[in-house]
Amino acid sequence: MRSLLVFLSTLLLGLAITACGDLGTLDEVDPEAAPATPTWDEHVAPIVDQYCANCHSDSAQFGPAEGYVVETCAQVKRGWRSFASTTFESKSMPPGAAPRPSSSELLTIQRWHDQGAVCP
Ligand code: HEC
Repeated sequence: MRSLLVFLSTLLLGLAITACGDLGTLDEVDPEAAPATPTWDEHVAPIVDQYCANCHSDSAQFGPAEGYVVETCAQVKRGWRSFASTTFESKSMPPGAAPRPSSSELLTIQRWHDQGAVCP
């Protein structure tokens, strides 16, 4: 009986950890891996430029995908719900085999946003 309880609680703990991992894998990223106080110009803009702007800018070859533009700080801020749901939650962006931001780059963006998404 006792070992059954131990087994069940281990199973539940495992499930809980898996569930949390799906929701917030950034929790597992070394906090030191991203700047403590990321700024738009120095830290966030280069990441968004590298991983999103090819497809989401007015100068993209066929125009911005879905009309969604992330060229400026204000645009990222304004479109944050969509940014977060695609890039952090569903992980549907960047699509397919397009290069993806590393977890420390994602943490940098998330931290910038959590600290008020300050634009220059
Ligand atoms: C290789 C091109 C490409 C890259 C790189 C890319 N996207 Fe996209 N994005 C698309 C396409 C195409 C769509 C529309 C079709 C779809 O949803 O798959 C789209 C759709 C979106 C949407 C949905 C727009 C809406 O109407 O809600 C958001 C938000 C988005 N992308 C954000 C991003 C972010 C943020 C990045 C960078 C982390 C990124 N994308 C990188 C091509 C790209």
